Amino acid sequence: MKQRALRNRTLTCSDQELRTLGPKLRSLHGPISVEDITDSILHQDFFEAAPYLPQKCIDLLIMDPPYNRSKNYHGHVFKAKTKDDYQDWFLSILDQIQPLLKPTATLYVCSDWKTSILIAPLLEQTFQVRNRITWEREKGRGSTSNWKNNTEDIWFCTVSEHYTFNIEAVKHKRRVMAPYRHENGTPKDWIKAEDGKFRLTHPSNLWTDLSVPFWSMPENTDHPTQKPEKLMAKLILASSNPGDLVLDPFLGSGTTAVVAQKLHRHFIGIDINQEYCSWALKRLNRAEADPSIQGYADGVFWERNTLHQQPKGHRSSDAQPMPSTMPPDRCQEVNSTEF
Ligand SMILES: C[S@@+](CC[C@H](N)C(=O)[O-])C[C@H]1O[C@@H](n2cnc3c(N)ncnc32)[C@H](O)[C@@H]1O
Repeated sequence: MKQRALRNRTLTCSDQELRTLGPKLRSLHGPISVEDITDSILHQDFFEAAPYLPQKCIDLLIMDPPYNRSKNYHGHVFKAKTKDDYQDWFLSILDQIQPLLKPTATLYVCSDWKTSILIAPLLEQTFQVRNRITWEREKGRGSTSNWKNNTEDIWFCTVSEHYTFNIEAVKHKRRVMAPYRHENGTPKDWIKAEDGKFRLTHPSNLWTDLSVPFWSMPENTDHPTQKPEKLMAKLILASSNPGDLVLDPFLGSGTTAVVAQKLHRHFIGIDINQEYCSWALKRLNRAEADPSIQGYADGVFWERNTLHQQPKGHRSSDAQPMPSTMPPDRCQEVNSTEF
């Protein structure tokens, strides 16, 4: 394992941990019931696993597939395809996932701007496309001949007109710049707290309050395209209810599963890379002891850099453990190793 600075909190697995966690990963070779597959991480090619997954059982699908650019996922290389080939590949994913979704399901698909152009028409053919969220990635390589590529998209789609959308669960707490008052002097649409004046606002489809995980954050892993937990929390809180089943067919480091568990949803996650699946299991185990989500406290999403204003006892560093959604046998197995 690489030597890292003391303050570097990147989660890794030692060889011993990989050996211990490996056998806890699953793979499908025949049909399985929802009960038997709920809260599992599958180490498998999505295309091999999908035909065996139970039909019409998924409430929320969060999909973050490789974008159409060459990327080395620790040995599993995804090669950029021609536009036609990428569209064919993406359509074959949609063909596999469509039967798994409940009629009331929501689907979020992550992409960059180039991939968005290719997948949007395909999503429109199959689902009701309701919005495109654009989020600021903060990181990004500068270019001397083009604008720096600093945003990503998330397509918000549903299977039908009937779907879950919990707007109250995803409100933003923002500082008030112009604290207007009613004629009688009471605050207009804002609240006065000990540490300032705030407003709870409806979130738009432009998200600028996220930090891509980096080395000093406990959620960070070495995954090359890991999504922030705060981002997943917004999707999961808005578009599912406690107890619902969330599927991520390209799980990577486990972010969707970890946040689903922290928010009392069930999950199924699939990734082709065994090390990533092991990181996901280790993160799930840690989430048992620390279910906090950076940037989400006291039932609201906070602006970046407001940790000191977030209520003590509810913020990421001092939250209390919440009950597990993991089956007790697997919790025990994972807890029995020294992580
Ligand atoms: C964009 S990353 C997902 C990152 C993830 N959202 C996270 O927060 O860590 C895409 C993932 O798809 C996985 N992958 C690529 N092809 C796959 C396949 N055919 N079946 C399953 N997983 C695959 C890669 O290993 C990679 O981890």
